[in-house]
Amino acid sequence: MALVSVAGKAPAAELEASMLANTCNGCHGPNGTSYGPAAPTIGGTNAAYMFETMIAFREGERPSTIMQRIAKGYSDEELKLIADYFAKQPFGRVVDQDTDPDLVARGKQIYDNLCEDCHEDEGMSAIDYPALAGQMMPYLDHQLHDLISGRRDLEKNEALSSKERRKKMRNLKELVETEGGDGVAAVIHFFGSKN
Ligand code: HEC
Ligand code: HEC
Repeated sequence: MALVSVAGKAPAAELEASMLANTCNGCHGPNGTSYGPAAPTIGGTNAAYMFETMIAFREGERPSTIMQRIAKGYSDEELKLIADYFAKQPFGRVVDQDTDPDLVARGKQIYDNLCEDCHEDEGMSAIDYPALAGQMMPYLDHQLHDLISGRRDLEKNEALSSKERRKKMRNLKELVETEGGDGVAAVIHFFGSKN
């Protein structure tokens, strides 16, 4: 790749980044705002989180249907450029998802109790954690099941301290133990209703 030769020249590096990112837009939508249920919105994602996530996909440490194959095509340097590029795009929330008002109300209560500490501003903040508000609901559903079952292992993403990860796992366990599967559905409807 021509990456090495453009290092240090900002405009050329930016062009390179946007060319690399074009490959992603077919599934993740223009500027990373998703238009299909399985692929999440990635525009505006925290750069450190996204970089670690791409490495985790590439090394097979985070389960995926598609992303491992894709991430394998990129070097660490390219993944850094890509992550920085998407972090600069706006987080475009997906609008008009089908939500149930009762589940949304219950999801808001659960969110206030168990999720707000980290996913601030009703899930709209992407400063330290992935933004959840307006994220594709089928994607959230899939990820929550992987996180709760441990198939997606929070210990594997180095972008966060282990204390934070342990606290997170307790909260997800509590969600399932106290609220059951409906509680999981409720938080998904709550985040899906935000646009
Ligand atoms: C063929 C469709 C497709 C393409 C192309 C694609 N993705 Fe994905 N992406 C997905 C799907 C589907 C998921 C959900 C995980 C899975 O099942 O693979 C995902 C998940 C992700 C996630 C996880 C988001 C989160 O919030 O944790 C990131 C980051 C990501 N993709 C980045 C990229 C980047 C960067 C590119 C381009 C280099 C790219 N993707 C290209 C389909 C695609
Ligand atoms: C102590 C901090 C913390 C708390 C509390 C927390 N989370 Fe998270 N959450 C995280 C971190 C960190 C990640 C990124 C995981 C990774 O690195 O793979 C994450 C990721 C997620 C994801 C995956 C996002 C994506 O784009 O793939 C979902 C969904 C999620 N959290 C939902 C919840 C819900 C629902 C609650 C409340 C029941 C909650 N979280 C409480 C820290 C937290």
